[in-house]
Amino acid sequence: MNALDILSNPTLLAPMAGVTDLPFRTLCREMGAGLVFTEMVSAKGLSYENENSSCLLVGENEAPPVGVQLFGHDPRIIAEICSGEHLKRFDVLDLNMGCPMHKIVTNGDGSALMKHPETAEQVIRAAVRAVDGRIPVSVKFRAGWCAGSVNAVEFGQMCERAGASFLTLHARTREMMYSGKADRDLIRRLKRSVSIPVVGNGDIFSAQDALSMLEQTGCDAVMVARGARGKPWLFRQIHELLDGRSVTEPDIEEKRALAIRQLDMLIALKGERSAVLDMRKHFSWYVSGSPGSALLRSRFTAAASADEMRELVRQWV
Ligand SMILES: Cc1cc2nc3c(=O)[nH]c(=O)nc-3n(C[C@H](O)[C@H](O)[C@H](O)COP(=O)(O)O)c2cc1C
Repeated sequence: MNALDILSNPTLLAPMAGVTDLPFRTLCREMGAGLVFTEMVSAKGLSYENENSSCLLVGENEAPPVGVQLFGHDPRIIAEICSGEHLKRFDVLDLNMGCPMHKIVTNGDGSALMKHPETAEQVIRAAVRAVDGRIPVSVKFRAGWCAGSVNAVEFGQMCERAGASFLTLHARTREMMYSGKADRDLIRRLKRSVSIPVVGNGDIFSAQDALSMLEQTGCDAVMVARGARGKPWLFRQIHELLDGRSVTEPDIEEKRALAIRQLDMLIALKGERSAVLDMRKHFSWYVSGSPGSALLRSRFTAAASADEMRELVRQWV
């Protein structure tokens, strides 16, 4: 599939470490997400056969299209992983050049690459050469490192020259982390400065946010991150609005069923103990904003078994 076919459904689920595992991606896909992404995976970790890295790639029977996101700054390691067996099942390879986390940027990875566009270019060229046309290579990056060094337009043009098939811009600087507002005008300017598709990312929490992102920036697709946590039906709502229908809220029965399915899928994947630990945060997101959510959240956070969680879900109104 080429980039245009893949983006024909213009609603993407963002890569989110600790969130976009196989069960959550499955629910978002069923709710209408087009391309979904794995959590970011360390190219170096895969190269060292690190199990914490390779287990992020599981999902043999997952419905396409699925993107895998790698992070790393060494073109040789990126090339090794992209030409090997690890990525065979994926439909898109995304390169992470936006992660702001301290431990990532101090290694020269993630958004640190925006300060070193020459290295970033070598990484992209190495990936494009290694995948050899089998799948599109995309790049996800930020506005720039800090307010004084916003370089997203030049960076995006470099990515295009290096062979990227599409770009995703999270229009905040590294310095902003996740605070403040994503700069939609920058997404608009990037879109006008390159000829490959641009995906707009940042602050899509409602169907209306998605529509206004598309209208204000002219971007080709939107990528939803925090807005989908505990709310996979946001994708269905975006499609309702894009199709000119009125936006509907799922009833509590449907919400409960989705949350329980996520729990069950996680148990099947990782076993009950690990699933319960992972679901504590997901359930907290599901119930946030509902009546009595503070108490329910604290109970989910302390729940020790799947049965306890199922009982708490019944109390969610
Ligand atoms: C918990 C969490 C984990 C994230 N992990 C990743 C990641 O693995 N790779 C990545 O490119 N971005 C990651 N991001 C950034 C999101 O993909 C997205 O760019 C950012 O949250 C802005 O979108 P939003 O305003 O819709 O949340 C993460 C964000 C959050 C909140």
